Amino acid sequence: MDGLAELRAKYLEQIAAAPDADALEAVRLAGLGKKGEISGRMRELGRMTPEERKTAGPALNALKDEIDAALRARKAALEDAALDARLAQEWLDITLPPRPRPQGSVHPVAQVMEEMAAIFADMGFAVAEGPQVETDWHNFDALNIAPEHPARQEHDTFFMHREPGDNRPPHVLRTHTSPVQIRAMQVQGAPIRVIAPGRVYRMDMDQTHTPMFHQIEGLAIDRAITMANLKWVLEEFFTAYFGTPVRTRFRASHFPFTEPSAEVDIQCSWVNGQLRVGEGEDWMEVLGSGMVHSHVLRSAGIDPDQWQGFAFGMGIDRMAMLKYGIPDLRAFFESDLRWLRHYGFGALQAPSLHAG
Ligand code: PHE
Repeated sequence: MDGLAELRAKYLEQIAAAPDADALEAVRLAGLGKKGEISGRMRELGRMTPEERKTAGPALNALKDEIDAALRARKAALEDAALDARLAQEWLDITLPPRPRPQGSVHPVAQVMEEMAAIFADMGFAVAEGPQVETDWHNFDALNIAPEHPARQEHDTFFMHREPGDNRPPHVLRTHTSPVQIRAMQVQGAPIRVIAPGRVYRMDMDQTHTPMFHQIEGLAIDRAITMANLKWVLEEFFTAYFGTPVRTRFRASHFPFTEPSAEVDIQCSWVNGQLRVGEGEDWMEVLGSGMVHSHVLRSAGIDPDQWQGFAFGMGIDRMAMLKYGIPDLRAFFESDLRWLRHYGFGALQAPSLHAG
């Protein structure tokens, strides 16, 4: 049969050039449709001799199959292209800004300091601060700690290095928050009601001691403040802090900067090896306190014949351990992320008077 090669070339070219499904369908109809060119050739087979048909038939069939396959392939390619074009156009941004995930946590010591500040603020105490590198005068002399007092000895106190000939006053890492009493009274005079939470340093390291730890100082000076006010303030504080009524026990003691002095215990019990505050028959020592010594008032420029008051100093770290059931003090300062995540507080867990 003549002209099959031309026919083939023509249709393959048109198929390849068809820009869309409609054009392709037109090509199909022109070739393979009922009245199409290739279908017409098929009908001509009937008029051929059997001999002619033997060669023309398979050639025409092969052409028909090839064109048919080319049409399908082109159709699929056009559909893919159309889909790609649609996908490129009709897209929807389904991403959302991620929910903010809390990063980091508030350390229990910071949380407890805030809780304590909130409770004392409610009783009229302002927060005072002082330097951690302190003069030995503020840390010792002004607090009536004589030069030969054991607290000054090298094994307790970190002394700042001094070059020979350096005539600045000797400095130490403060060994307690009591020097802030002096600074606050120097600045503010009397009457005064302050607390001073912060870091303190002592050369000590074992299961229950770290060379840096935290204290909170309390100071109230007015005309007629007595130990009874101290006891009320402390019981009020412990009750608010632990969220349960807590009794205190005062035991006579000695501090150079208070007279009289008392160590204060809080009521507690041990149940199945677990400590509970505010119940039971046991007592646990938690702070030192007393009436501010006249020498201390005088060093800070306050007339002890006009003014008197109480002071106390309490360890913060152990108070955090007691309230939040944290077993090991040293872990406080190891910066272990797992520990911080477990015991840390969220930024929005703001302490209130009823924080629990
Ligand atoms: N500064 C004392 C200490 O670190 C505690 C204290 C403070 C005692 C105020 C009495 C008054 O142990």
